[in-house]
Amino acid sequence: MKRRVRAMPSWSPPVLPLLLAWLTGAVEIQVPDHPIIARFGKDVSLGCTFSPDSNFSLADLSVIWQLTDTKGLVHSFAQGQDQLADQGPDFTNRTSLFHQELARGNVSLLLRRVQIADEGSFTCFVRVKDYSSAAVNLQVVAPYTKPSLYLEPNKNLKPGDAVKVTCHTFHGYPEATVLWRDGLGNNITENVTVSQVANQEGLFDVQSILRVVLEPNSTYSCLVRNPVLQEETHASVTITGQHLTFPAIALWVTVGLSVCLLVLLAALAYVCRRKIQQICAEDEETTGTDGEEEGEELKTAMQPLKDSNSKSDHPQEIE
Ligand SMILES: *[C@@H]1O[C@H](CO)[C@@H](O)[C@H](O)[C@H]1NC(C)=O
Ligand SMILES: *[C@@H]1O[C@H](CO)[C@@H](O)[C@H](O)[C@H]1NC(C)=O
Ligand SMILES: *[C@@H]1O[C@H](CO)[C@@H](O)[C@H](O)[C@H]1NC(C)=O
Ligand SMILES: *[C@@H]1O[C@H](CO)[C@@H](O)[C@H](O)[C@H]1NC(C)=O
Ligand SMILES: *[C@@H]1O[C@H](CO)[C@@H](O)[C@H](O)[C@H]1NC(C)=O
Repeated sequence: MKRRVRAMPSWSPPVLPLLLAWLTGAVEIQVPDHPIIARFGKDVSLGCTFSPDSNFSLADLSVIWQLTDTKGLVHSFAQGQDQLADQGPDFTNRTSLFHQELARGNVSLLLRRVQIADEGSFTCFVRVKDYSSAAVNLQVVAPYTKPSLYLEPNKNLKPGDAVKVTCHTFHGYPEATVLWRDGLGNNITENVTVSQVANQEGLFDVQSILRVVLEPNSTYSCLVRNPVLQEETHASVTITGQHLTFPAIALWVTVGLSVCLLVLLAALAYVCRRKIQQICAEDEETTGTDGEEEGEELKTAMQPLKDSNSKSDHPQEIE
């Protein structure tokens, strides 16, 4: 019961080709039904196998690997050896079959130093008595570098400034998904631009720009995801109070103003002292009535100062 349930799905798809192969006498070829994922620059093996008869001889075998779309020749084998005269120039020195495996019906192709241009469908033709063929899909991937972040401007930042945060990552494939997050983990989607430019090898250089108005203690993270590798790399920048440096100009203006104020206060103190000395001198010279008048004026002028100093300790004195 259990076995039948498990066997059914995997058994039923090959039934039709098997039947056809038996009726026509063609070989039945097996290839992976999912795309083969290969890292850029690495080697990959594209699987293709058949079940040889017991009296099968290598001399009867012909194998042709070609590009499904353009029919460009990738690799061929016949009369017991590789036949590479018509091989496409892109594949020179990059292909081989596993010769010790051929007799077992394993005609998988080894493709070395995978390039972006290799991505696509490859067809495996096998002939023993009749031809059969099947296609294998190759998906090329390249991981993205850890992103680097730049701030522009990157000096004298203060809250309220408009800042351009640039996230840069290189040499990945296929195109990246770029996400921006704030310090609370919320996605930032507004004021974000992304550009993905393929280099000569077909790998993408990705740049995303986030424009924000700076708030104190803000964190911005740039997450770069490779959709095929399901791999994520990220970088973040935190702009704290320390990064929000006091602008140099403001510092000098403040120092300058402070000096001015001190000079002004000193001058004022000097003038006041002179004035008081003058009044005292006048007080000694003039008669009582005049002096009282002057004295009253001085006293009332001093009053608010005294009052603020000693609070309402002497409320009577105000009157
Ligand atoms: C292999 O054996 C089968 C019978 O089992 C026969 O029909 C066929 O012709 C043989 N092939 C070769 C190449 O001798
Ligand atoms: C392939 O390999 C041969 C021998 O190693 C070398 O002479 C030739 O330049 C290579 N061709 C390419 C296209 O790399
Ligand atoms: C075919 O041969 C290659 C190289 O030895 C091996 O990696 C692969 O698993 C083989 N495929 C099958 C279906 O045995
Ligand atoms: C952010 O966006 C990603 C991808 O669009 C999504 O998977 C995730 O749930 C979002 N997170 C939040 C907090 O909205
Ligand atoms: C996006 O930019 C516009 C214009 O610069 C600005 O008014 C708005 O506040 C920005 N949005 C966010 C979420 O920063």
